[in-house]
Amino acid sequence: MRKVLLAALPAALIAGAAFADPMAAIEARQAYFKSLGGVTKAMGGIAKSFDAEAAKAETAKLEAILATDTAPLFAEGTSDAEFPGKTRAMAKIWTNMEDFGAKGKAMHEAGAELIAASATGDAAAFGAAFGKFGGTCKACHDDYRVPE
Ligand code: HEC
Repeated sequence: MRKVLLAALPAALIAGAAFADPMAAIEARQAYFKSLGGVTKAMGGIAKSFDAEAAKAETAKLEAILATDTAPLFAEGTSDAEFPGKTRAMAKIWTNMEDFGAKGKAMHEAGAELIAASATGDAAAFGAAFGKFGGTCKACHDDYRVPE
């Protein structure tokens, strides 16, 4: 439990922040996605070699991360048009906010299914839910993240 609370801390701090300067929003955004990337990577390993306890531990972290209010992280004026080389967030995010939001919602829904699947302790259910969850990352990155 203690571990879970500590993992939740950065997300909670991010959620409460109002960003005076656009670079702070960009950095907080990238920190959010880094932590999301970290748990997703760990869950990918667990999906390959299933461990029910580890799956539950990682989805507890995921739940904390997904509780972050990401709206302040996508403040106006923080795209790669304003900050080339500093961010990979495409300017078209802000002109397609409805679709961008739908892609975020799809990730949240798949994340909720993944959390539920981890509670069953079933490897196949976890694997299937993880595959779907990963697909929602790619769907958004393909459209809205500058390729490396
Ligand atoms: C709704 C859109 C969206 C979804 C869904 C999404 N991402 Fe991203 N992701 C972005 C954008 C935009 C960036 C670029 C952020 C920046 O550079 O400011 C990004 C950046 C990243 C980064 C790089 C962070 C860094 O700068 O080091 C990682 C890692 C990442 N995402 C992982 C994930 C994972 C894992 C998922 C799914 C579980 C996911 N993302 C889902 C839009 C999304």
